[in-house]
Amino acid sequence: MNKKLSIIIVLALMIGLSVQGKGLKTINNTNDKKNTTMKFELPKLPYETNALEPVIGKQTVELHYGKHYQTYLTNLNNLVPGTKFENADLETIVKESDGAIFNNAGQALNHYIYFLSFSPKGGGEPSGKLGDAIKAQFGSFDKFKEDFEKASIGVFGAGWAWLSKDKDGKLHITQESNAGTPLTKGYTPLLGFDVWEHSYYLDYQNRRADHVKELWKIIDWKAVEARF
Ligand SMILES: [Fe+2]
Repeated sequence: MNKKLSIIIVLALMIGLSVQGKGLKTINNTNDKKNTTMKFELPKLPYETNALEPVIGKQTVELHYGKHYQTYLTNLNNLVPGTKFENADLETIVKESDGAIFNNAGQALNHYIYFLSFSPKGGGEPSGKLGDAIKAQFGSFDKFKEDFEKASIGVFGAGWAWLSKDKDGKLHITQESNAGTPLTKGYTPLLGFDVWEHSYYLDYQNRRADHVKELWKIIDWKAVEARF
């Protein structure tokens, strides 16, 4: 190989490496951007989709978790880029947003709490500090259940009933419409009953009250207590 040809090959290799380098940089930048942009994903359910039967049917869980909840997350992931919420966590978005971003973020947070409040081995009564607080404030667990059922059944249209605590540890039962959450009142959500029809219509049709009364059988009070 003559000297001129060697120089041409070395130059060609240098140009090639340079182009490759730019390519890698571009890919890395894209990855970096993805890593710093929040992508909200479904949490893994701590139970099988048929494990909550007969209180909540397999098809309801599959549609509610896999379609409705997923759609809120997909919408949120599509709406957030380019806004001030690009690097914000979900709670911050819920507290500070409005319109379509709030609706999808609120539902993303609400369904996260909802689906992680169930267990096929659930039911019974809360113990520990939460159990004590419920008894102290409502008189008894049964009275709390009665009040919470009344709030759930009484939500007009789509919405939620929530048990939450304020900064002093006082418990509150509130009704929320649509994507509403007690978080925007400065309260910490502990337990939410989703009374949108998509949560019960396949199993209970229009009988919301029957659905609400059955839900107590699958509440994972350990998970609820952990939020208190
Ligand atoms: Fe829902």
